[in-house]
Formats: sequence, C-alpha cells, structure tokens
Amino acid sequence: MSLQGKEIQEMHKKYILQSWGKAGQDVLPVEKAKGIYFWDYDGNKYADMASLLVCSNLGHELPEIVDAIKEQADKMCFMAPAYASEPKSRLAKMLVEAAGEDTYKRVFFTNAGAESNENAIKMARMVTGRTKIFSCYRSYHGATLGSSNASGDWRRFAAEIGGANGFVKFMNPHMYRDGYTKGKDDAEVTKKALADLDLQLRYEGTNNVAAILMESIVGANGVILPPDGYMEGVRALCDKYGILMICDEVMAGFFRTGKWFAWQNFDFKPDMITFAKGVTCGYVPLGGVIVNKKIAEYFEENVLQCGLTYSGHTLACAAGVAAMNYYKEHKIGEHVAEMHEIVSAFMNEMAEKHKCIGEARCIGLFGALEVVKNKETREPMQEYGVPGPVMPWIFAELKKRGFATFGRENFIEICPPLIITKEELEEYLPILDEVLTMVDEKYCD
Ligand SMILES: Cc1ncc(COP(=O)(O)O)c(C=O)c1O
Repeated sequence: MSLQGKEIQEMHKKYILQSWGKAGQDVLPVEKAKGIYFWDYDGNKYADMASLLVCSNLGHELPEIVDAIKEQADKMCFMAPAYASEPKSRLAKMLVEAAGEDTYKRVFFTNAGAESNENAIKMARMVTGRTKIFSCYRSYHGATLGSSNASGDWRRFAAEIGGANGFVKFMNPHMYRDGYTKGKDDAEVTKKALADLDLQLRYEGTNNVAAILMESIVGANGVILPPDGYMEGVRALCDKYGILMICDEVMAGFFRTGKWFAWQNFDFKPDMITFAKGVTCGYVPLGGVIVNKKIAEYFEENVLQCGLTYSGHTLACAAGVAAMNYYKEHKIGEHVAEMHEIVSAFMNEMAEKHKCIGEARCIGLFGALEVVKNKETREPMQEYGVPGPVMPWIFAELKKRGFATFGRENFIEICPPLIITKEELEEYLPILDEVLTMVDEKYCD
C-alpha cells in the first residue's frame, strides 16, 4: 500500500472507535470517488454496488450537487432554525410535493435517519398523548437511544440496558424465512400476521399505543418484501385504534424502489414519513420528518417540543434541493425501472443457478440475495445473530475483484447507485456470479 494510504489507515486504527466493530482493525483507506466508483490509495477501483450504506443514490461527486454546495458555501454555510433560508424553505416545499400535497403539509429537519425516527416518535407521543411505540423485530431504525430501542435487530441490545421504555416489538412476516412463497401464499400470511398484530395491540392496550413505526420496505435486514395487503392491513389497524403510522423511508426513499417514497408502491398513506440518506445522497448529512395535515395542524396550535441546532442546515438543504432537482429532471424513476429489469433478471438467474442462493428479492434497485447452506431446507448460511466466517469471506472476495457491497448473516445487498448504466451492470454483475460459484463449491451441502 502507498505510504499515504498506510499512514491514514494506521491513524484510523489508532484513534477511531469503529462503528459496529472492534477498534484497532485495518480498514481500507479511500482516496477519492466518482460516479459509481471509489478508489483506494493504490489506485484500485471499486464499483460501489451498495451505494455505500444505501445512501449514495446519485453516485459520487455529481457536479450538480457539488456545485450547489459550493455556491451555498460562498454565500452562507449555516443559518439557525429560528430563521428562514432559501434552501430550507425550497426543500421543505419540494418534499411535501413529492409526498403529495393533498395529504402532507410540513417538514421537520434533522441531521440523519436515527434523529428523524427519534423526533417522529416524540411527535407521535405529543399528538396522541399515548406512550407505546410498536415496531418490527425485522427492522433497523438507527443507533441513537430511542431509535435503537425502536430497532428490532440485535443492534438494539446495548441500548436496552436499563430497560426499553414503551417500545413493543412485533414479528413482521418474512415469506422466505417463515417457510412461505411470495406471490403464492400472500393472502394466508397477511391474514395471520394482521390477526396476530391486532391481538398484540389489544394485549398492550390500544389506548396506550401512540404509533406503529415500520420501514416501508425493510432494508438493512435483507430487503424484505411484505406479502400483498400487509402494509394496507397495518394502516387499517392504525385507523381502527387511533394509532399513528410512521413509515421509515430512510433507506427505501428517494427512488431506491423507483418512486419518491417506497410506500407509494402500495395502496396506503402513512401519517409521518421519516427520511435521510437519499435526500442529499450523503454529500452533507440531512434527515427529517414529513407530517400529514392533521399532525401539522396540531403543531400550529401546540408547541413542537423538538429542536436541533442544525435543523434545516443550510448547506445540507442546498445539497437536498440539488439532489431532488436531479431526481426529477433526469427522470431517475424511469431509469431505475429500466435498470431493475437487468438486475432482477440477473438475480433470478443467480437463484436458479446457484446452490447457495435460496431467494432473490428486488424492487427498483433495492435487492438482496438470500444465502443458504441448503436450498431444500432453506438452512441459512449463518444463523440470525451468530457471526461466522462465510459472509465476511464472500464480501472480501467480491471486494478483491472490485465489487464493493455489504450484507449480514445470510444476505448480500445489491443496491447500486441509481445512475448505474447497463454497461456498468454488465461489467460488474458477472463478478458476483463468479464468487457465488466458489461459495457453492466451498460451503454448500
Ligand atoms: C431504515 C433505516 N432507518 C434509519 C436508519 C438510521 O439512519 P442514520 O444512520 O442516518 O442515523 C437507517 C440506517 O441504515 C435505516 O436503514
């Protein structure tokens, strides 16, 4: 490795507390990024097939966003929440329009995804006067204290030390893992899952439940596509009991699924929409909560007991306006629909061809391959919550070949930047095929 790269890696190793890992490990030092690629200090090129953490929806160093940030930086980097600024006002209007002005009215800005969910939870409690927040086991909502407690996967455990106040989990269906087939058993699974949730809400006391918080499509737990009718059924339960429905669009929003927001693929509307990641594609951190008219009007009459020094950060909002203009002007939704055809055909082929792939799931450019030891029994490559060597080996082999992505115990995420071209897909997807062949031979029954 070059001296500069080595020095940066060594300082990282010595001084950084590593997210979700042990400190003191070697991590790859990255020098620059452009389009769907990034490069290390030795000039090795990597295709970013996960949009980093499913956030770089428009790829890296897009001139339209970079120029907007530079222009805003020259004028005014930051103005406090108590003042209006052009980027903040414009972005709020654009977000309400994207969600639908017939239903939605106002935006509260935060700095990232966890804070968005955190503030949505607070708002739901203020509006309803109720405490409990229902959320799914198969979910991730962020790593601050409240959002961690709302998260369902194992990343919440450290936050639960001392107790989780008012957070209740329910099991959202995962057709493949629960032994069903998507497209065949949907009606049966939906009926059973909704009946279970209804019963659980009543056991918790429906009058105590402020909100049901759900990812519109579960992302970091493996792009779990809900059975038909399930999300609409949850909405109906919320209506029945006066519970607010919050859709977490942090990962699934901003055309990841081909629409502004993933819930727009279904036939329901949430009361609140939390967002982050794709709103600026990570060029500057930004998140927020879009609320419907009823909630907006509540806070026209009552004080919103939420606030952040950097709410509506000027530079971040300038990046957001540029990103939203780009999504619209370059018809990213249409491009995603075209690229989806290539990616989903490839993923289905992988599921047919490889012993190690149990199922392919993909909506828009939001995809995951379920990795199994045994296709017949659906035995996962690694059990939930049990770290093992195979998945890290897969990600390392992919990275060695210039294909950068991530996943967890038993799935590989395929979520490239939405601007990826047919030629780029044709160049990089075969690498995955090659590595999966090695997995078949080395690790499958
Ligand atoms: C669905 C969802 N919600 C919330 C978050 C947390 O966002 P952040 O890391 O920006 O706080 C994530 C992060 O991956 C996410 O996928």
